[in-house]
Amino acid sequence: MTRSVLSIGDLSASEIGAVLDLALESKRRSGPRGSELAGKTALLIFQKPSLRTRVSFELAVSNLGGRPLYLSPPEVGIGERESPEDVGSVAGRYCDLIVCRTFDQTVLERLAASSGVPVINALSDWEHPCQALADVLTIREHGGTSGRCLAYVGDGNNVARSLAAAAAGEGMHVRLASPAGYELDASSVEDAALRARESGGSVSTMSDPEEAVFGADVVYTDTWTSMGQELETKQRHEAFVGYQVDVNLVAKASPDAGVMHCLPAHRGEEISDEVLDGPQSIVLDQAENRLHAQQALMAWLFG
Ligand code: CP
Ligand code: NVA
Repeated sequence: MTRSVLSIGDLSASEIGAVLDLALESKRRSGPRGSELAGKTALLIFQKPSLRTRVSFELAVSNLGGRPLYLSPPEVGIGERESPEDVGSVAGRYCDLIVCRTFDQTVLERLAASSGVPVINALSDWEHPCQALADVLTIREHGGTSGRCLAYVGDGNNVARSLAAAAAGEGMHVRLASPAGYELDASSVEDAALRARESGGSVSTMSDPEEAVFGADVVYTDTWTSMGQELETKQRHEAFVGYQVDVNLVAKASPDAGVMHCLPAHRGEEISDEVLDGPQSIVLDQAENRLHAQQALMAWLFG
C-alpha cells in the first residue's frame, strides 16, 4: 500500500509513537545505517526556501541507502509550468518517494493522488508534520511527553497545527495562546482535542501568553510571519505585540522548562536573543532531531 504523510492526521498517535521509538533506537545505535531505501530515489521538490528540512531529508535518504534528488523553487513550477497531476505522474515514473514543500495543501494531495508513490509533506501553509515529529521526539528526550504541559505562544499556523495534534496524542496538556484573528482554527483544535481525549492529555486555547506559559514544562513559539505572508508583516507585528517569548515570559514557566522554536527565528520579534541563546533553549536538539525523526519515518514507511 502506498502510504503518504501529508498531515499529522495521516499518522495515528500509536504510529507516531512507533516512529519515535524507532528514531530513539537508531539515535542510540551507532554503526551500520539502515538500508530501507537501498536502490530507491527520493525526489525533493521545494517551492519555498529551507535549511533544516532540505539538509536533514537529503542526509536521511542517504543514510537509508537511497538517493536524494533536489529540485529548487524555480525549477519545477508546480501549477505554473505544469499541473500537480502532471508533475506527480511523471515523478512517480522516476522516483520511489516524493518529499514536497509547497504552499497549498491541495498540491500535496494532488501529487499523492497522481504519483502512485508515497508523498511526505516537508511543510505546506497548512501543516509541518515532520517538524512535529522532531518536536515530540525532542520533548521525549527532555523530560518526557505524557502528562507534561506544552505552551505554544504565537500564530495558529502550520507548525502549531501539526504540533498540537502530535503532542496531544502523546498525552501532553497543550495550551495555545494567540491574538484575536490568529488563533488555530476550531476544527484543528478539535482534532488535537480528540487525540488528547484518547491519550489522557488536554488542549486549551487562550489569548493571554502568561496564562498559557504559567507552570509549563515546554514553551514553544514560531515566526509571526510565515513564508508566503510577507505582505502581511506590518499588520502581524501590530497584532502580536506582547507575544514575544522573552525572559519575563519564560520566568512564568516551570524553572526547568525547555524553550523550543522550529527555526528560522526572527530574533527580537517572536523570541528574544537572550531566550533563544539561553540555557533553557533546546532549539538545536530540536533541529538535529529533524534528521532522526524523518529517517525513522522513512524507515517505517519503507521497512
Ligand atoms: N524548521 C524548518 O522547517 O526549517 P527550514 O525552513 O530551514 O527547513
Ligand atoms: N511557520 C513557518 C515555519 C518555517 C519552518 C513558515 O511556514 O514559514
